Amino acid sequence: MEGTTLYDRIGEAHILKLVDDFYEGVEGDQVIRKLYPKDLLPAKNRLKLFLIQALGGSRTYTDERGHPMLRRRHFQWKIGEKEATHWLQHMHAALEKATFAEKEKNEFWDYVYKAALHMINQ
Ligand code: HEM
Repeated sequence: MEGTTLYDRIGEAHILKLVDDFYEGVEGDQVIRKLYPKDLLPAKNRLKLFLIQALGGSRTYTDERGHPMLRRRHFQWKIGEKEATHWLQHMHAALEKATFAEKEKNEFWDYVYKAALHMINQ
C-alpha cells in the first residue's frame, strides 16, 4: 500500500466509527464534557470531516470551515495536561475497539497524540 494515504489505508467507514466511539466517551466525561456544546452531533461531524481531510481524504472540512488553525480554534477553552489526557483516553479507547490494522492504528495514534499535546494552552 506504498504511496496511499492513511485515509485510504484506514478507510472512511472506520474513521467515522472511530469518531462516534470517541464521542461516546466524551459524552460521559466528568472533565471535558462541559467544554463541548450541548448538542454533540455537529461537533462530531466537524471532527469527522477534519480527520478525513487531515488523513488525506476529501477537503470538505476546509470548504465548510476554512483553514483548520486548530490550535487557535482551541484557545477559547482552557486545555491543560488534564484535559488533553482525558481527550486522548477516549481516542485510545475508540482505537482499541476499532478493527483496522495495528500499523494504521499506531500511525493514527502517533498523529493524534502529538496533535493533542499541541492543543495544550495553559
Ligand atoms: C487536547 C484536548 C482537546 C480538547 C479538550 C478539545 C476540545 C474541543 C472542543 C470543546 C471543541 C468544540 C466542539 C465543536 O463544537 O466542534 C473542539 C473542536 C474541535 N476539535 Fe478539539 N479538543 C482537543 C484536541 C483535539 C485534537 C487533538 C484534534 C485533532 C486531531 C481536535 C480537533 C478538533 C476539531 C476539528 C474541532 C472542530 C473545529 C471547528 O471546525 O470549529 N481537537 N475541540
